[in-house]
Amino acid sequence: MTPQEVIQNLGELPPLPQVATQVIRISAASDTSSEELKDLIRTDQALSTQVLKIANSAMFGRAREVTTLTQAIMTLGFATTRSVVLACSVKHLFNRGPAGIQERILWEHALVSALTGSAIGKAMRVTSAEEVFLAGLIHDIGKSVLALKFPEAYGALLRSLQNQGGDGLSVELDIFGFDHAMVGEALLRSWSITEGIEAVVRWHHDPLEAPADYRQLVALVALGNQVALDLQVGIGSPDSLAGATWEAMDILHLDAGSYERHRITALEALERDKALITEF
Ligand SMILES: [Fe+2]
Ligand SMILES: [Fe+2]
Repeated sequence: MTPQEVIQNLGELPPLPQVATQVIRISAASDTSSEELKDLIRTDQALSTQVLKIANSAMFGRAREVTTLTQAIMTLGFATTRSVVLACSVKHLFNRGPAGIQERILWEHALVSALTGSAIGKAMRVTSAEEVFLAGLIHDIGKSVLALKFPEAYGALLRSLQNQGGDGLSVELDIFGFDHAMVGEALLRSWSITEGIEAVVRWHHDPLEAPADYRQLVALVALGNQVALDLQVGIGSPDSLAGATWEAMDILHLDAGSYERHRITALEALERDKALITEF
């Protein structure tokens, strides 16, 4: 079987919602952007509820309850609100497999990779932080596809990685003849999404292989991926990402000291936005 054949007839996995690409287009730089974002959220009841819920959780301990979208966006800030909308729009992609507990771990891994990768991107000002966030959310989407398509075999593989650690990519290659990055790429070809995000899904384990234009984006997600696994949010050994992390540091011209500083910035961002993980 080829990765293309895996995603053929994958009727159960819906396309990426338009709202995700719309959100990427709404620029924080424009004065109207806050209104645009509010209008977009207002069209979707589930989204409105989620934004209010997270705003109230972020307000934990304060007296007043957030009851309107305007208050919610003010409480969370524009960037965090946008992240909530992006996460909400892709969440359903993680709830469809029969893998149960592992699907939850994959989702938390996606959120932590997205939050930390985009925090580093923001600190370095190298590329659009929103694009890093969305790319981080879906970088391992191939795993969800594999869990959906091969519930027994892939479920067993995830459980063994979870219990014994190891390098998931090489185990996938041994068992299936392809890995989640190849399957993810095949899925994304059927979506209309940016080429940069497609490059992230395909090359987050080998950032130097990515097309030159997207290497920084891929590198930032690779670092988010590393931070997440270092925190044991995800499946597999943090060591298995060492090669990808070296390549990412090379691409972003980071030495050990600057990497450490960015890692701390990322952990602070995670602490600040933790409601985004606990309330999803
Ligand atoms: Fe991966
Ligand atoms: Fe990952």
